[in-house]
Amino acid sequence: MTTWNLGGCERLVLLCNGDTCTTRGSDEITVALRRALAAAGLDPVVHTARTRCLGRCDDGCTVVVQPDNIWYREVTADLARRIVREHLEANQPVTSHVSFTPGVQGLQQMSGTRPGVEKPRGATE
Ligand code: FES
Repeated sequence: MTTWNLGGCERLVLLCNGDTCTTRGSDEITVALRRALAAAGLDPVVHTARTRCLGRCDDGCTVVVQPDNIWYREVTADLARRIVREHLEANQPVTSHVSFTPGVQGLQQMSGTRPGVEKPRGATE
């Protein structure tokens, strides 16, 4: 187990390792993205964490970049390397695979993204 000093860290990349994304190659994606980060010298400023299901299985493999709040869909190892190069190094998200991005009223769904099931609003009993 490791306890990293996250001082100076600027971004967090969440890599879904839920069942659906694992079936679609999330382990390979995790390795590809982490290797690309290391090669680019971004390890001190970009932290990564594997998660369980991020709730967008139809989009799998799902990757989220925070605090940008950019959600990626259908991520492959090649796309993971592009995310490092274009988004994390050059600050240009790979728009062709963005599923959600910050909008005026919360996240905004991008075209080509499956809508999904509405989340319940208000108190539940
Ligand atoms: S398993 Fe990855 S979003 Fe559900």
